[in-house]
Amino acid sequence: MVSARVSKIEPSKTVAIDTLAKQLKKEGKDIVNLSAGEPDFPTPDNVKEAAIKAIRENFTKYTAPSGIIELKEAIVNKFKKENNVGYSTENVIVSCGGKHSFYNIVMSLLQKGDEAIIPKPYWVSYSDMVKLSDAAPILCSTDENFRIEADLIKEKITKNTKLIVINSPNNPSGSVIEEKELRKIADIAVEKNIHVLSDEVYEHFIYSGKKHVSIASFNEDIKKMTITLNSLSKTYSMTGWRIGYCAAEKDLAKAVEKMQSQSTGNPTSIAQKAALEALNGPQDFLKERISEFEKRRSLMVKMLNGAGLKCDLPEGAFYCFPGIESTKLNSEQFCQKLLKEHLVAAVPGIAFGTEGHVRFSYAASMPDIKKGMERVKKLIESLS
Ligand SMILES: Cc1ncc(COP(=O)(O)O)c(C=O)c1O
Repeated sequence: MVSARVSKIEPSKTVAIDTLAKQLKKEGKDIVNLSAGEPDFPTPDNVKEAAIKAIRENFTKYTAPSGIIELKEAIVNKFKKENNVGYSTENVIVSCGGKHSFYNIVMSLLQKGDEAIIPKPYWVSYSDMVKLSDAAPILCSTDENFRIEADLIKEKITKNTKLIVINSPNNPSGSVIEEKELRKIADIAVEKNIHVLSDEVYEHFIYSGKKHVSIASFNEDIKKMTITLNSLSKTYSMTGWRIGYCAAEKDLAKAVEKMQSQSTGNPTSIAQKAALEALNGPQDFLKERISEFEKRRSLMVKMLNGAGLKCDLPEGAFYCFPGIESTKLNSEQFCQKLLKEHLVAAVPGIAFGTEGHVRFSYAASMPDIKKGMERVKKLIESLS
């Protein structure tokens, strides 16, 4: 018998689709996989070389549980330079991916009776990880473009609210929180003494000249209440290396470190050296990749609308999240049909708490996006 704790959570639906698509591909099917939540570009060469060097130099033993000091310093510099937030190394905990950081934070902060507000659509793992902490996920709606709004969050606040989770640019919708809304959220959080967990893993994937803003940068009061979460996964195409991190006020950071020291221990020593090179090394490769994503985004949006699925230009991340209500299928039926009959993998909106939509990832080559979208069009035509 498994515990009640594990029985109340679901396996990740995005991982399940990706696994099925990979299996079908292995069986020789011509699958177009638009379900992936990771850039299709390789990890930069200088980063790979740093890891090889670490192995050669026998940097292969335990490190401090919350990460090596040089990496924490690089993260502190990154926060200062890119996010205009002044943290010190005592605020920073390096973990085995952003997912691990999220888990450690909720396990350190929340308990039975607490509530965590999560705007919809949300990244699949948030609500299940909150459930694992015995707190209650309280889902909250967003505006018609899936933008997080302070007033909608405010409506959900009760005396038990301990945490507000925000994610901008958002997975799966690509929406970006307006700065004025972000400031309002900061004011509410400070006034009501509620923590904000700001998931900024897509901060660099932001288009049309928009710029990412970190809520912790507004003032010292909100910085104290904020846990800023980030990861090397998306920015540096390092999903498999498993390095993420968070920054929080010192007592909470200590609690997260304690959690980690009694569970996983340190993130992989070799991957930490790779992360150090990623953060301190050249960043220019990113510009090219972002501009490639921008082109792919245009192609996908154009073809989705051409196929009859309404989709506005997403402002960030690397996903389109069109409505599928016109097809009269629910999102799971749509994705099943699309995969089984037309060999395209996409993720049902219900996995993100939002029925009536499907997530297509444009972290795929232009020819794959074109082929995938042509097949989507065929599916839509077959339904009419
Ligand atoms: C919104 C969001 N946050 C966090 C993560 C965690 O990524 P990782 O654990 O690879 O750092 C993901 C991954 O898909 C994500 O989409």
